[in-house]
Order: sequence, then C-alpha cells, then structure tokens
Amino acid sequence: MLAWYDAHARTLPWRAAPGSNAPDPYRVWLSEIMLQQTTVAAVTPRFAEFVALWPSVEALAAAPEGDLMAAWAGLGYYARARNLHACARAVVAAGGFPETEAGLRALPGVGAYTAAAIAAIAFGERAVVIDANVARVVARLFAIETPLPKGLAEIRTATDTITPDTRAGDFAQAMMDLGSSVCTPRAPRCLACPLSAECAAYARGNPEGFPIKQPKAVKPQRHGTIFWLEQNDRVLLVRRPPRGLLGGMRALPTGPWTEAPPGLADPPVAAAWTLLPDTVAHVFTHFRLELSLAVARGRGHGDSGEWWPVAELDSAGLPTVFAKAATTIRAANRRA
Ligand code: ADE
Repeated sequence: MLAWYDAHARTLPWRAAPGSNAPDPYRVWLSEIMLQQTTVAAVTPRFAEFVALWPSVEALAAAPEGDLMAAWAGLGYYARARNLHACARAVVAAGGFPETEAGLRALPGVGAYTAAAIAAIAFGERAVVIDANVARVVARLFAIETPLPKGLAEIRTATDTITPDTRAGDFAQAMMDLGSSVCTPRAPRCLACPLSAECAAYARGNPEGFPIKQPKAVKPQRHGTIFWLEQNDRVLLVRRPPRGLLGGMRALPTGPWTEAPPGLADPPVAAAWTLLPDTVAHVFTHFRLELSLAVARGRGHGDSGEWWPVAELDSAGLPTVFAKAATTIRAANRRA
C-alpha cells in the first residue's frame, strides 16, 4: 500500500507529499473536520477559503463566531462549525494541538475517527484509522460477513493487523485513496488494485457484495412552512435558537415541524400570507423535511430579525435548505 501511495497519492491541499515531513496539524485537523460527511470535491475550495481567512489555529480561535458560521454555510451539520470554533479555542488555550490520539479525542468535535486520523497524519502515531472508504477496502480484503454497523468491530481488528508501525498516516491516506479511486462502492477496478491477489472478496468473485449492510430504517417525513416577508426589496431574516436544528444560523422564519403540512400556523407576523404552489424538500440526518412556502408583503415588527436586501441574499450565509427556498420563492415572484 505504501508503494502504491508513493506512485498514486492524490495531491490535496492539506496533504504533505508521500513520505515527507508531517504537514501542519492545523491544516490536517481543519480538513478532517470539513471532510466528515462531505466529499473531497466539495471541501477542496472551501478549505482554501478557510485557510486564506484564518491561516492558523490562533486566527480561527479569534474569529467572530458569526463570520465562521457564514463561511461554513453549505457544508452542513452546523454543530461541526460551532465545535470547530470551540476546539480552536481549546487548542490555543492549551498552547497547541495534543500530539496523541487520546489527547486529540478529548477536544470538542473530535471523534474516534478524527483523533486517529490527525494522530497518524500530523504526528506519525501508529493509529488505526477507519473512515467509510477504509472500512469498505478492509471488509472486502477480509470478506467480513458481519453486516455494518456491527461488523465495524471486526473491521477495526483486521485494520489493526495491517497498519504499519511507521508511516501510519501515509498508510491511512493510501487506504482512503484506494477506496475512493479503485475499491469503489460500485464496479471496483480490481485489475488496478495492489491488493487483489490477497483480497478474499475478489477471490470469491464478489467484491461488490462487501461490506454487507444492515437495511436502513426509513427516515420520518416532517412538514413545515417557510415565511417570506418582503418590503422595499428587503426580506425578513431571523437567527435560529442556539440549540436544535441549524442552531444559531441566520434563517428565513419558519413555523413548527409537524406530521402533516402546517399551512400558515405560527407566522412571524400577522400579514396577508399566501402559500405558493411550490415546495422545497431537504433531507437531514434524522428526517426528511418538506417545506411549504408562504409569502407576504408588509412591514410587521420583525424586532428580533433583520431586513436583508433580497439582491444580497447570497452573502447572508443561509443554510442550504433556506438558500434553496429563497431561490424557489424569488423565481415564483418573478413569474407573478
Ligand atoms: N477523507 C477524510 N480525510 C481524508 C484524507 N486525509 N485524504 C483523503 N480523503 C480523506
């Protein structure tokens, strides 16, 4: 795997070249937090923006929380952005990043995977690093029959047996790259794989059959309404409560999430609301949400909100679901 990595490593902005000195722990940590649940392709340009704005952990720790949340917009899972800030402050207070897996694990927002990845990549510690790509490679290599998520314990034991004592960071990233480019979920390119001669799933002629997955529970469907109140080319925006879904983010006002479409229940102000024929759908971690769109003109008190110029909504840092709704509503307003 290390020889394969020397020849085939992807060049990524947070990486050092294979076999070279360890990269900056700040960049490794930031990239790993951004890459949780988000693809390399989506993260790459955002990573460049972040390090241009905040080139060090000290700079990030000193950033106003609102700036950081706005820069995070679109990357999803906003609790991660809040933890990012808390973590940066904890690191600065401690005088630098902890250099062990256990020390890293104690930081806000740093889970088992992330602690192992940073320890191996930034500090050269022999840590067992398992993300979804690595889990798939190992499940195939050893033909692990226990379905995920239960099978992860066996995958961990197996990964431990093949993790080298040196270059653990390069090994982990080699496994990640192999998983993303060769040992892909569908149609793996086994003829290009350095592990095929030793791969138990390949020997069985069924690499795509691994990892075996427990069928997923279906996500519940919820409904809600977004309220678009416009006056003088400005729209009312609010700040969501600090806890809960999209906590602390700037947003369009919403009513409650309910089992059936709530219609015009709980508008932010009394006005002549009309429901548009369009709806917007979004899938969150634990549920699907379908949002009706209500529009009205008028002043309203809006004392807890801000009147934001409609033409400048792109700079409001709205989470994806609200940005989608705004696009739909503005298109409907142009038709009207
Ligand atoms: N996904 C998460 N961390 C990664 C890394 N360091 N390289 C490639 N893909 C990744």
